[in-house]
Amino acid sequence: MGIKRVGILTGGGDCPGLNSVIYGIMLKAFDAGIECVGILKGWKGFVENLTIPLDIAEHDDLHTVGGTLLYTSRTNPFKGVASKEERAKELAKKFEELNIDALIAIGGDDTLSVADAMHKYAGAKVVGCPKTIDNDLAGTHYTFGFWSAVQLASNAMDNLTTTARSHQRVFIVEIMGRDAGFLTMYSGLSAGADIILIPETPFDLEKDVINVLKERVNAGYKYHIIATSEGAYPNNDSLKKDFKTISKEIIEKLPKDTYGNPLLAKLNISQIIVDELNLRKDLKATFQQNKVEFECRSVVLGHTMRAGPPNSFDRILGLRFGLAAMNLVLEGIFGKMVSLQGNKIKTFPLAEGVKKKYITAENDKMELRDLLVKVRYLSKQK
Ligand code: F6P
Repeated sequence: MGIKRVGILTGGGDCPGLNSVIYGIMLKAFDAGIECVGILKGWKGFVENLTIPLDIAEHDDLHTVGGTLLYTSRTNPFKGVASKEERAKELAKKFEELNIDALIAIGGDDTLSVADAMHKYAGAKVVGCPKTIDNDLAGTHYTFGFWSAVQLASNAMDNLTTTARSHQRVFIVEIMGRDAGFLTMYSGLSAGADIILIPETPFDLEKDVINVLKERVNAGYKYHIIATSEGAYPNNDSLKKDFKTISKEIIEKLPKDTYGNPLLAKLNISQIIVDELNLRKDLKATFQQNKVEFECRSVVLGHTMRAGPPNSFDRILGLRFGLAAMNLVLEGIFGKMVSLQGNKIKTFPLAEGVKKKYITAENDKMELRDLLVKVRYLSKQK
C-alpha cells in the first residue's frame, strides 16, 4: 500500500528549528502529492487523537519561525506500563485511527525512543528527526536548535560583560543542557567566559573556582564571567570539603520528569555557587587586598535559550532534515533517523541514534577551555 498521509509530531522541549523541519517535510510531501497531518502536543496528541490538517499554502516561510506550530509536551506513553512491547503494539494500531500511513517524530532521546520501540516491537512506519538544544544525541554531529541556543547564550554573556565591568562583579551564568555540557562549553568558549563548568568534568570548588578567581584578581582582573551548566556539579571530595549549603542527598533527591530525568534546573547550581563563595572570607579578603569589592550574582538563562527564531544554520539544517525524513518515507525506509555526518545528511538506526553523547576528554574544546583559564592570568604575571 502506498503512502498517502503522513503524520508529524514534535515532542520534548521546544527548540528553534522545529518549524523548519516541519516545513521541509511539507515541501517534499506537497511535491510528491502526499498529505501531511499535524499531531498536536507530541505523544499526547498521538494517544488522544489531537490532529490538525497541514496545508502548505497557509504556512509560507514557516522555517523562519521559532517554536513549533504543532505544540509539544513531554508525554511518555510508556510511563507505568507493565510491558513495553504490548504498549508499543497498541500504539502502532493508532496509525489506523489517526488515518496516517507513516509517522515522522521530531524530538530528542525521549521522544525518539518511543518511535524506536514502536518500530522494533510492531514494525510501525516511523522515521525520526533529532532535535534538542542540548546536542546530546549520539547519532548526529549536530541536532538542530543547538547553534541557535549557543548564539543566544554567547550573546547573553557578551552583554553581561558590560554590567560585570561597570559593577566589578562576578557573574555566574547558568546554562541549560541537562547532563551534557555542549551548550555551556561552546557558548562559554565563544563568549570567552573566564571559568567553564560542565557536567562531564565534576569540579573542585577550591581549585577550579576559588583559586582561579584569586589568581585572576591578583593578576589585575576586576570582573569575571563564570559559565556553568545547569547540570554541573562538584566532585565528591569537593562536595564534602567545600560545600556548606548542599549535600549529596540533596542532589540525589531532585524531582524527575515523566521520562525519569532529574530536573537539574531545580538545583539552581549557579545560586549555590554564589552562596558558597559568599561564605568564603579568604576569597573576599583577596578581592579587598586588590581594592575590589566582592560582589557575586547568579543569572539563569533558562528558557531564553530556546526562545525566538532559529538562526540560519538551524533553518537550513531543519529544512534538510525535513526533506531527508520525507525522502525516507517515500523510499519506504523506516526505523531510522536522519542525521548530520560532517556536512552530509545521512541516516542512522533510531536505536543507536537516540543513545546519549557527551563531551569526551580528548575533545579539543576541553583543551581550549583549560588554556583560556590558565593562560589569561599567567600571562599577566610579571
Ligand atoms: O532538553 C532540552 C532542555 O532545554 C534542557 O536543556 C533542559 O534541562 C530542559 O529541556 C528543560 O525542560 P523544560 O522546558 O521542560 O523545563
